[in-house]
Amino acid sequence: MTLQHSTAPAAHDASATPAWWRDAVVYQVYPRSFADSNGDGMGDLPGITARLPYIAGLGVDAIWLSPFYPSPQHDGGYDVSDYTDVDPRFGSLADADALIARAHELGLKVIVDIVPNHSSSEHELFQAALAAGPGSPERDMYVFAEGKGEHGELPPNNWTSIFHGEAWTRVTEPDGTPGQWYLHLFDTTQPDWNWENPAVHELFERVLRFWLDRGADGFRVDVAHGMVKPEGLPDAQVNSEGLIDIPEGEVPIYFDNDGVVDIYRQWRPILDSYEGDRMMVLEAWIPEHRLPQYIGQDRAHQSFNFGFLQARWGVETMRRAIEKPLALADAVDSPTTWVLSNHDVIRHATRYGFAPDHRFGEGLSREEVPDAELGLLRARAASLLMLALPGSAYLYQGEELGLPEVADIPDELREDPAHKRAGVPGRDGCRVPLPWQQDAPAFGFSPTGESWLPQPEVFGQLAADAQEGVEGSTLELYRTAIRLRSELGLGRPTAPLAFLEDLPAPVLGLTRGDVVVLVNTGEEDLELPTHLREAELLVASAPSAPGTLPADTTLWLRRR
Ligand code: GLC
Repeated sequence: MTLQHSTAPAAHDASATPAWWRDAVVYQVYPRSFADSNGDGMGDLPGITARLPYIAGLGVDAIWLSPFYPSPQHDGGYDVSDYTDVDPRFGSLADADALIARAHELGLKVIVDIVPNHSSSEHELFQAALAAGPGSPERDMYVFAEGKGEHGELPPNNWTSIFHGEAWTRVTEPDGTPGQWYLHLFDTTQPDWNWENPAVHELFERVLRFWLDRGADGFRVDVAHGMVKPEGLPDAQVNSEGLIDIPEGEVPIYFDNDGVVDIYRQWRPILDSYEGDRMMVLEAWIPEHRLPQYIGQDRAHQSFNFGFLQARWGVETMRRAIEKPLALADAVDSPTTWVLSNHDVIRHATRYGFAPDHRFGEGLSREEVPDAELGLLRARAASLLMLALPGSAYLYQGEELGLPEVADIPDELREDPAHKRAGVPGRDGCRVPLPWQQDAPAFGFSPTGESWLPQPEVFGQLAADAQEGVEGSTLELYRTAIRLRSELGLGRPTAPLAFLEDLPAPVLGLTRGDVVVLVNTGEEDLELPTHLREAELLVASAPSAPGTLPADTTLWLRRR
């Protein structure tokens, strides 16, 4: 049986050009680690602007910028203290304007990050909430509650932080007495906004308009399944070890609550009131069957599909991670997204080197030594598979260079709050500054050789200039694949997708019209099936002799 993916045209207006985001390749820039123009060891907006031609040269359609707003940087900028300005470490508002203008000149759309679940504790409204005391309108902007116990000395409920430890911190009231507690689903320095309060809705509507007015083409919504908390802030169920119980396929009690989607219902008309196809993509780590409720003409445009990222290497797992989201996407008439890496997970060039495990969270410890060669081989194969799929693909800076996760960062240099709170390795290993030049200080990341995290030696041979124009390099593989994807219209739903059933067991095969995509997930090199021997080889993720499909390799072929 073959699965026929629907070829139905977009419902909005079949005669119009489909909105850009429906098949876009989007390149995520993590500003601290992309390119440093002023030599302080921290990437910045002018550094990004100067490298935009490189990004455009990959053939991508858009960039997504992780937060660059004023922030004490306790969570890499996801702790925002002012949503409508630029952190001086990264530049100025004029630099943001220049970046957006240059991106547009180069034909790149710009997606900015919006962080609506929480702010930084240094946000002036949180400081005002602390100063104003219990019962004040200022305090009502955040989630404050009385503690339990005789003197309120126990947290209001048993929720724990995503970054480990308690999700509540007690404050000292303006009169010096121990007082209320505030909720922070993440770090202590990231208090949750109170979305029950209309003033919070108004604040974020102003933030959206601020960036839309400055030319942003879309928003990546952080913790998009957060914001609305269950009424009465009830305790979560705990298991026999006293840990919060999250049954398979479910989410913690404070995520994915009724009412979250109403926020997107309010935001959508704002985006639609601007020219061009302004969009929002949601970051929601929730079971995939829950995602469609957030997507539609009157709510968000799309959400990350993390199932593909989480799928283990293998025919069944990867096929399921393709079929399921495609079916769900059809139901809401919004193409799915594909993503293999971002700033929160172990880079996929390392992840696929764990056998047979497929860990992606909490970082890589020094003791774990995945097979780097195998990891890169499979990562290239997975990327080539991803780029053949209909919908939009999100790339994370450096994956086009095949960068691995960095394990040997000295603990004292690690900045991830999860590392500081719980001692897990954390996410710094995927955030190490990019290597641009093989033979330059800090591999060309900064003019002075400063780098906020040390770069490993292997980054030299992976530097962009070492791969530029080199046949078979990961950089050239991405460039070729992205170009072909666009020429062949593979991102569009118009080339029907069907799985091939008559292949050897370790081979995942699918067709997109004339194009045949084969992934050999096995350990043995194979001969191509007879009926494909005459096919034209379009691109291969690893060197392959004519008529063969090497182990851990993806091929795109065109039937003659
Ligand atoms: C999102 C971000 C992550 C951040 C967290 C809290 O998951 O991607 O980097 O730590 O939200 O804002």
